[in-house]
Amino acid sequence: MATFTIKNGLTGAVGEFEILESTMGAPVVNIAGLRSKLGAYTYDNGLGETATCQSSITYIDGAKGELLYRGYPIEELAQKKNYIEVCYLILHGELPDSGQYDRFEKDIRTKSYPHEGIKHLFNAFPDNGHPMAILSSAVSALSAFHHQHLNVSEEDEFMEMARRIIAKMPTLTAFTYRHSMGYPLIYPDMDRYFTENFLYMMRAFPTGKTEVKDVEVRALDKIFMLHADHEQNASTTTVRAVGSTGAHPYAAVVAGINALWGRAHGGANESVIAQLEMIGSVENVDTFIKRAKDPDDPFRLMGFGHRVYKNFDPRARVLKSLRDELRDTIGISSRLIEIADRVEQIALSDEYFVKRNLYPNIDFYSGTILEALGIRKKMFTPIFVIGRTVGWIAHLIEQKRDPKQKIYRPRQRYIGKVRRSVP
Ligand code: CMC
Repeated sequence: MATFTIKNGLTGAVGEFEILESTMGAPVVNIAGLRSKLGAYTYDNGLGETATCQSSITYIDGAKGELLYRGYPIEELAQKKNYIEVCYLILHGELPDSGQYDRFEKDIRTKSYPHEGIKHLFNAFPDNGHPMAILSSAVSALSAFHHQHLNVSEEDEFMEMARRIIAKMPTLTAFTYRHSMGYPLIYPDMDRYFTENFLYMMRAFPTGKTEVKDVEVRALDKIFMLHADHEQNASTTTVRAVGSTGAHPYAAVVAGINALWGRAHGGANESVIAQLEMIGSVENVDTFIKRAKDPDDPFRLMGFGHRVYKNFDPRARVLKSLRDELRDTIGISSRLIEIADRVEQIALSDEYFVKRNLYPNIDFYSGTILEALGIRKKMFTPIFVIGRTVGWIAHLIEQKRDPKQKIYRPRQRYIGKVRRSVP
């Protein structure tokens, strides 16, 4: 512990603040009491310099390009574990032994059926409604079917709620997709593993055999795993803000879904493919790179850049090698991958991108892999939701356990009219 002294130049007031060490990474200055000591607030546009909570779930070193879940590097987890083991790790803090895994995995299978009433909801939506809007409404409706969770106070109850929403998210996502395609809704197959079951629900028809290849399951499982948590990103911060009010945990997850939808966050995976389609051919890449560099053009290269990673996104590295592996094993190749390769090649050597540390992020690769798995681009962000649900819930649990947790209530720098009388 050390002290950090700030002097307010206007009033001359001096305040001392303690520095709190982190187990890894930068320490934080605890500015509690700043206003009373110095008569000022901090201004941190976009919260990029602010720790809004303390957490032990995920660690990111943006300069090194390091991502750890509960201390384990993402690359090792992706190589040795499956998504459900990682869910257990994120929720409980440790990897499961075989008995714990069997019980956890079985419980998730059995909880994958939503209440029958939820199905009727889908009839109310137009076929062409965006799946994120429909999914968000379906999860919101789920809180009405599980209203007992509003007061979850016991650890066991909270964990049960966590397993329930993790289990139902793929089913609701598949229902959303099937509704948008005019296909009959298909129930989960409890004999299948989580990720296989999701692909089955996306593809199956009431008659005929549904083929889901192991290699496809492994690829999507890794995509879920790489999206499972990412510290205090925009959607997780939103989930915590709603959670801090004591709202129903599913309502907090719905808020996360809506925050994720934006193209600067989870919506980027859909935008990457839309952009590659717009580029259209390898010959046009230069024109779009030029546009991305033009300060007068709002055009941005989707799937490039990250608020935290300033070297490379370790999730992108895992996905890049997964994409290359799929190219060799199931022969995925497409015009879009060729265009993506060219974009990457040019951007990585262009001074504009190098100077600003703009590297491909997870969304740059996830889109082309999902496309190769036959998944339509409108479903990419809902797939991100499936993977991220465990992270959101783990943050809610952590927040609930923290005796010092407070309702989120930031301040502002007021720049409006000064007080005046109504004429
Ligand atoms: N293409 C072209 N220029 C860019 C890009 C891009 N993708 N991203 C940032 N820049 C430029 C930006 O114009 C600015 O230039 P200058 O200094 O000349 O004004 C500089 O780089 C810094 O940009 P910023 O907007 O201040 O950076 P940020 O940290 O606030 O934004 C970001 C991070 C991810 C929102 C942004 O890089 C972006 O919009 N990327 C494209 C969208 C995308 O791929 N999002 C997915 C993020 S990863 C998934 C997730 O974790 O949610």
